[in-house]
Amino acid sequence: MHPLPKPILLVVDDQPINIQTLYQVFKDGHEVFMATSGEQALKFCSETLPDLILLDVIMPGMDGHAVCKQLKAGARTRDIPIIFVTAHNDPQEETMGLELGAVDFISKPINAAVVRARVHAQLTLRRTLREVQELNENLEARVASRTTELEQALESLQQSRDELAHSEAKATLSTMIASVSHELGTPLGNSKMVASTLADQTRTMAQLLQSGQIKRSDLDRYMEQAREATSLMESNLQRAVKLLENFHQVAADQASEQRRSFHLAAVVGEILHALSPSLKRHPHRVVVDIAPDLVMDSQPGSLGQVVINLVNNAYLHAFEGRSDGVLTIGAQLEGDQVLLRVADNGVGMTPQQLGKMFEPFFSTKIGRGGTGLGMAIVQNLVNKTLHGRVDVESTPGQGTCFTIRIPRVLPNA
Ligand SMILES: Nc1ncnc2c1ncn2[C@@H]1O[C@H](COP(=O)(O)OP(=O)(O)OP(=O)(O)O)[C@@H](O)[C@H]1O
Ligand SMILES: [Mg+2]
Repeated sequence: MHPLPKPILLVVDDQPINIQTLYQVFKDGHEVFMATSGEQALKFCSETLPDLILLDVIMPGMDGHAVCKQLKAGARTRDIPIIFVTAHNDPQEETMGLELGAVDFISKPINAAVVRARVHAQLTLRRTLREVQELNENLEARVASRTTELEQALESLQQSRDELAHSEAKATLSTMIASVSHELGTPLGNSKMVASTLADQTRTMAQLLQSGQIKRSDLDRYMEQAREATSLMESNLQRAVKLLENFHQVAADQASEQRRSFHLAAVVGEILHALSPSLKRHPHRVVVDIAPDLVMDSQPGSLGQVVINLVNNAYLHAFEGRSDGVLTIGAQLEGDQVLLRVADNGVGMTPQQLGKMFEPFFSTKIGRGGTGLGMAIVQNLVNKTLHGRVDVESTPGQGTCFTIRIPRVLPNA
């Protein structure tokens, strides 16, 4: 820390002996300047601003009062504290000095201790005042600069919020595109498989016809297979068309979402039926436990996508390498919420997997048919579209249970 600069004192007196005395009192710890007339004092002040003036009242020419008046009239010199040094204790003179703006009086003959104490008091007061003033000015400058900073921060915040909204819209669209291609894979894959099975059966049928060995029962069986195949293709292709329609709608930003009243058990049944070609290739079982009279007013398409993903995941991940998988799909009403539980008795997940499973592109089957988008889509659909939430519990070796809570009646947007 710098030592404080020495205070500057100006001693004004026409008597050199008085100046001498005061000089002796203050020479230590102060810079003492001297003037022997009022004019000299004013000239000094026009060049250097003293921290305090000890001013003799009675002087030839310009007296102390006149000097004081002039200093108080100048903007630069107005605040210099002035202590009058008077020869006699005259109350009238003191009153006049006070009116002129003096801060104190000292009477001659000078008592060193008293004059030192009074000057010290005034100097301390002045220094403190100046510090407070500086603090105030600093404070104002700091508040001003902080305000500017804050204004700039606010502006850039608003800008990034706009950018964010924009990029969110873009992200929603690209998630949507990813989601649609993902979801289209299932119904189109199912349809293709059913079509090729039907093609095989038709070839066999044609051979039988050609050989002339066809029996009535062959024809009946073929008719039954063809009916089932066309019905499966119909429902799968319908799903594909529906997805495309949905996508078209969202992409065109038509906020009116496709909601309707439906029986939950029926919708889940339709989905399982549509998935049955792939599911039938495995020995696992699906058990549905949904009250047939549970009616919802929501978006069956989105709910369907959620169920498809969970069923596919159970078959693909949970039941991998097993032959006794059981997937239970249950639903019940709890107040105005529907509680949908999808539970498997499969491999389960480690806490690490569990913590990441909703992240887009997290998959333990990357490069083996998994994109890692399924669960991100599920969460997005449940949270945003269906206004609900997904919870998951899983124990390695014991299986996984998804609990989905959604309003039975979707609130209006
Ligand atoms: N029922 C389940 N049992 C065990 N692990 C699961 C189950 N469901 C999901 N997982 C794990 O969570 C990961 C993420 O699932 P998600 O559906 O997001 O991706 P994916 O199935 O790998 O790929 P896709 O995008 O084709 O669905 C899976 O790779 C798997 O490790
Ligand atoms: Mg999946």
